[in-house]
Formats: sequence, structure tokens, C-alpha cells
Amino acid sequence: MSKKILILAGDGIGPEVMTEVKRIISWMNARGLTDFAVSEGLVGGSAYDVHGVPLADETMAEAMDADAVLLGAVGGPKWDSLDFSVKPERGLLRLRKEMELFANLRPALVFDALAEASSLKLDIVKGLDIMIVRELTGGVYFGQPRGITTLENGERQGLNTQVYTTSEIVRIAEVAFDLAYKRGKKVHSVEKANVMESGLLWREEVQKLRDAKYGDIALEHMYADNCAMQLVRNPKQFDVIVTDNLFGDLLSDCAAMLTGSLGMLPSASIGADIGGGKRRAMYEPVHGSAPDIAGQGKANPLACILSYSMMLRYSFGMLDVADMLDNAVQDVLNQGIRTGDIMQAGATLVGTSGMGDALLKALEARA
Ligand SMILES: NC(=O)c1ccc[n+]([C@@H]2O[C@H](COP(=O)([O-])OP(=O)(O)OC[C@H]3O[C@@H](n4cnc5c(N)ncnc54)[C@H](O)[C@@H]3O)[C@@H](O)[C@H]2O)c1
Repeated sequence: MSKKILILAGDGIGPEVMTEVKRIISWMNARGLTDFAVSEGLVGGSAYDVHGVPLADETMAEAMDADAVLLGAVGGPKWDSLDFSVKPERGLLRLRKEMELFANLRPALVFDALAEASSLKLDIVKGLDIMIVRELTGGVYFGQPRGITTLENGERQGLNTQVYTTSEIVRIAEVAFDLAYKRGKKVHSVEKANVMESGLLWREEVQKLRDAKYGDIALEHMYADNCAMQLVRNPKQFDVIVTDNLFGDLLSDCAAMLTGSLGMLPSASIGADIGGGKRRAMYEPVHGSAPDIAGQGKANPLACILSYSMMLRYSFGMLDVADMLDNAVQDVLNQGIRTGDIMQAGATLVGTSGMGDALLKALEARA
């Protein structure tokens, strides 16, 4: 039975990079490697222009019904002055909230051909392959009470609450352990158990889960400040890192930059199990809508293409097809083909569609 994919290309370079993903999906469908039924909808500023909201109810319903959602990027100067309630980003937040996407997967993978783009030394990052699993719907960004109040002495006070329950910790840790099974069988759980009770609970619950269900996964606990240091000192010691919303926000950006290029970074957000082994999921590049280069055919489509590869791998278990696509990306980079953002001396500069052409050729060669 064919799987339903909802594509929400969004704004700015979103539709440009998504055009290249759609070419790859068509190629894979035509080859019989996949059987995807693709539908498309609007999100962000482009949805606001048509519907007056950044995500229409019908599009939300389609996302809930889809087997996976692939998103481009949202936002841009045209919509910067809109009221907060209808800003393009609210469309994304609605998707994340209603699909209950609690686990954010951010790989930091260094392609050999691009290792020199990292700000760290070549031998420290070459061959790097880390997966950061960030809790996305709990913790200090959502905890109550919160707010700014005026105290009796006239001083103002800003308040946020870091809070986690057992079930929130267990479900994110399960995602990390399950991923580790398919990778290097090693998980680092990261918190501040030395100074925060929520961190201590996190540590105890992750350890309990590991002992009960994941005996052959090596688990290490690490304080978040040490993890930040270790990520730039010796990042290859890590396989899977699982951490809360706040620390994950910082550490995933830090790890991403080890790879040296925003235009190469994919991500996945995974939701609750909704039965039949199915989980809601949304895949999107880490980068935004890049208004400075939008409409010029210059954007690097690889982050979006690698997000599609994560969809193949994590939503549909099509490991061979995902490997084939990842290897084709390697081939193209090894051939010295580059968009402007990853350009190096002696390489061949191409635009968005030129990168898509090269990738399809590399896929043909591997098929
Ligand atoms: N998930 C999302 O949709 C998302 C994420 C971040 C920012 N945004 C929005 O995007 C808009 C621009 O934000 P920003 O400039 O801070 O971040 P950005 O990621 O859009 O761009 C940062 C820089 O990286 C470059 N860049 C980004 N992606 C690229 C690609 N694929 N190929 C080549 N170069 C690329 C841009 O040209 C720019 O110079 C804002 O409206 C912001 O709110 C959306």
C-alpha cells in the first residue's frame, strides 16, 4: 500500500530546495524503490497570504493523516511585522504541538569531502557521526509557573520552571536507546544532576530504563557543561546523546557547527506511537528560509534531501534506499560539485537545480 507524504514547502528557499526533493521522490517511485503518494500544502507566510493564518485547519488535518510530513522552511521579511499569533513560525509550532512531536533528532555528520569546512582540526572531525536526541515539548520552555511579575519591593522578576515527569523522560530515552541499537550501541544522557532536581530525576529514570530494557546499550551520564566542552574537544567519543529541551537546543547547535555548513543539516521530529508501529513524524532542514538568497536558484538543497533520507530511514525503515541516497550525496561531494555555501577552491560551482541534476545522475549510477 502506498504511503502518504505531505509536503509543506513553505517560504523563501523552501519551495526551491523542495523542488529537488520532489524530483528524487519521482525518480524513486518510477524505479519502484518507493511507492509514495505525495500531496502538498501551504505553511508559514505563503499560507498566511492565502488563508490569513500560517496553517489552515485542512492542512493540519492532512498532516495528522499523513504517514510523514516533509517541511521546507518558513518566514521572511514580508511577514516580520505580523501579529505574533499569525507569524509564519506559528504554523510550525502548531504542527509540532498537534502532532505531539516530542523527540527532535539532529544528526551531526561530517562528510569527508567537507571536513575542512569545520572550524575544528581535520583529525578531530573527520568521520564524525553523532545523533543528538533533544526533548522538544517539555522542560523550561513550557513549564508552569512562568511569567514576569512585579515584586512587593518594586523589582521585576522573570520566572520559568524546569519540570519533567517520569513518562516524559522515559519516552525520549526510549527513542535514544532504540536509535543506539541501530548505530554504535552507546548513549550519553546529559543533564545537570549536580545542581538540579529535574536533572537528578532524569539521570535516575534513564538509568532505570536502561537496566530494565536495554542491557546491551552502554550508558554514560554526563553534565551538560562538560558535554559542551567534550563536543569541541573530542566529539568522536559520542554516538547518541539524549538530553532535555534547553540543553538540547544549545548542544545540537554546537554539534551542528562541527560540520561547518548549515545547508547540509537535516533533522527529524518524532511523535507518539499511534498504534500499528506508526509514529507521527516531520522532517525538515535545520536552516531557515534564507531571504538573502531566495529566488536566485542558489540554495543548497542537500539539507532538505538528507531530511527526506531520514524519513526513508526512520518513518519507513527503508534503510537500503536511505543508504543509497546518502551515498549518492557523498558521490556528488567527492566529485567536487558544490553550491555557493559549501564552495571550495578548485570545486565546481552549481545552483540548486544543478545540485539536483548531479544527485540524480549519481543515483542512476548506483541504481
Ligand atoms: N525551521 C524554519 O523554518 C526556520 C529556521 C530558522 C529560521 N527561520 C526563518 O528564516 C528566516 C531567515 O532566518 P536566518 O537568516 O536567521 O536563518 P537562515 O537559516 O534562513 O539563513 C542563515 C544564513 O545561511 C544561509 N543559508 C541557509 N540555508 C541555506 C541553504 N540551504 N543554502 C545556502 N545557504 C543557506 C542564508 O543565505 C543565510 O546567509 C527568518 O524569517 C527566520 O525566522 C525559519
